[in-house]
Amino acid sequence: MVCLGNICRSPLAEGILQHKAQQAGFNWQVESAGTGSWHIGSSPHQLSQRVAEINGIDISGQRCRQFQKEDILQFDFIYVMDENNYDDVKAMCRELWNESKVDLLMNELYPGENRGVPDPYLGTEKDYHKVFDLIDKACDKIIEKASLNPSKGGTSQASLNLK
Ligand code: 4NP
Repeated sequence: MVCLGNICRSPLAEGILQHKAQQAGFNWQVESAGTGSWHIGSSPHQLSQRVAEINGIDISGQRCRQFQKEDILQFDFIYVMDENNYDDVKAMCRELWNESKVDLLMNELYPGENRGVPDPYLGTEKDYHKVFDLIDKACDKIIEKASLNPSKGGTSQASLNLK
């Protein structure tokens, strides 16, 4: 899960998908990263932590890291939060770029529309709740699809690295 700062949206996405994967019995490695370097080593934004906690998910142990081009090799799939993230990941991957492994998270909910998850960084708690709900619904779709395809889920003991 990739956004710009790796302190607001993608930490929520990591926490939510990891939580749902565990509930579904899938042995997935879910991580998040930012295309920017400003917040490396920082905890998620206080409002992301708060909104996650209200929804029963603890993301307080996460620490910001920057996306590395090798991530596209290590992980089976990379979800980005908006089109800027997509362009940045593509540029950062250079010769390792693989279009089939990267998509906007919101395309799970609205296929082909290339909608973004709005950046709540300078917003209010209400904005973080909206972001949580969007990501939550998109992650439900990911789990639903994987449940229909045992090779991508946990039922066959296969491990899927999702980022
Ligand atoms: P995020 O939000 O990409 O959802 O983590 C942002 C966090 C920090 C900044 C921008 C967006 N920033 O400019 O520091």
